[in-house]
Amino acid sequence: MRVAIIGTGYVGLTTGVCLAFTGHSVCCLDTNSSKICALKAGQIPIYEPNLSDLLEESRRNLEFTTDYAEAIPGAEVIFIAVGTPPTPSGAPNLEFLSQAARSIGQHIKSDFTVVVNKSTVPIGSGNWVGSLVREACELRPNGRHTQFAVASNPEFLREGSALHDSLYPDRIVIGADETRALEVLYSLYRPILDQTFSAPTYLPRPEPVVAVPLLSTDLASAELIKYAANAFLALKVSFINEMGLLAERVGADVTEVARGIGLDSRIGPRFLNAGLGWGGSCFGKDTSALVATAGEYGLHLPIVEAARKINGWQRDRVVEKLLHELKILKGRTIGLLGLAFKPNTDDLREAPAIEIAQKLIDRGVRVKAHDPIALERFQREHSRMGVNLCSSPCEMADGCDALVLVTEWSDYRELDWECVARKMRNPFILDGRHALDREKLTRAGMRYMSIS
Ligand code: UGA
Repeated sequence: MRVAIIGTGYVGLTTGVCLAFTGHSVCCLDTNSSKICALKAGQIPIYEPNLSDLLEESRRNLEFTTDYAEAIPGAEVIFIAVGTPPTPSGAPNLEFLSQAARSIGQHIKSDFTVVVNKSTVPIGSGNWVGSLVREACELRPNGRHTQFAVASNPEFLREGSALHDSLYPDRIVIGADETRALEVLYSLYRPILDQTFSAPTYLPRPEPVVAVPLLSTDLASAELIKYAANAFLALKVSFINEMGLLAERVGADVTEVARGIGLDSRIGPRFLNAGLGWGGSCFGKDTSALVATAGEYGLHLPIVEAARKINGWQRDRVVEKLLHELKILKGRTIGLLGLAFKPNTDDLREAPAIEIAQKLIDRGVRVKAHDPIALERFQREHSRMGVNLCSSPCEMADGCDALVLVTEWSDYRELDWECVARKMRNPFILDGRHALDREKLTRAGMRYMSIS
């Protein structure tokens, strides 16, 4: 099938590359010409494991453009995967979405096109996008006869494992009020639903995946499923962090508590890692959008609001613990291990490291930081903060009064901790992710404390 994808961020690019890999002819469009130039040259503007390999393998089915007139006419399916960043009120900014919808309306031509919302959009946006496309169509000669339908196809991929989640998803959700749209998307996803593609060597098919369930719903339900999924995951993390707070007071070990409850299959073991809490571009934005939507209907969502509040506290606890350990923070040097919001990405949006660094700087601390992948991006986006970026953890440890493990990159588990301890003025580490081996670090001469 011929597919157009508007927006080449994590979601758009991954979707485009995976659909091209499964045999469709895909044109990816972005209005940012430097991104498109880079992609044409085979360079990926984000860090995502194996994405450049899969792009290379799927090259013959992929095109990149900045021109709607090139991407849209003739496309049978058009995905909108543009950003919906949060506004100060918590509601998402829909400017890019409306621009994309209007531009689609100015250019669609084929007999029947399915316009798919892949961006996380407020409930009701499907209808709104439909009306914007329709309005733009009607301004064109004969545009009134253009046939299209809008569908919602929420994305559940995680940064850092985006390809795995796209090729081997737990489910595919399609919200459409027209059966014709559902049929088109069913054909599009068939290779993934039936798992008929041959798996790339670097992304082997996990054992239990034989077929992927397809859930077809109305538009509004599909839109709410996306928000509800992220809110529930965010809630799980905040729940275990709340238990961590209590565990610390009563002398219990929160990682054992997580294991103990996670073995109950009704609860499940994932998303129960206690620590600094969630960051990234999704949980914060989507939980605040959900609260804002509920507000428009005169409703409160106390559970979602509590999850957000607890997440904020986790960052404050770092400062409290460092204050307790060092007594005075002013004039101290503290090193952050990890800047990215989680391992295997260079994404810094709502990264706990940024909030923690700022809180420490505000208290007169000299902050140093290391990250295996995100240093360059941090330098580009946050150089004004005045964080001293170091190219190795040992270099960073030099003269530090404390370290904080912020992002649990696997490299940090295997550090030369003796070297780190020798270089520090005060060999103390606060493990913000319950990721390090307390005994190993203690043997190396470090004093170890975890976040709870
Ligand atoms: C999240 C969802 O997991 C995806 O399903 C969804 O598609 C995506 O948002 C989106 O809306 O686009 P992502 O933000 O990439 O994906 O990252 P996650 O792996 O979910 O992690 C989110 C945050 O939670 C990270 O900061 C992570 O460190 C934190 N986390 C996660 C914990 O603190 N504890 C855990 O047990 C799990």
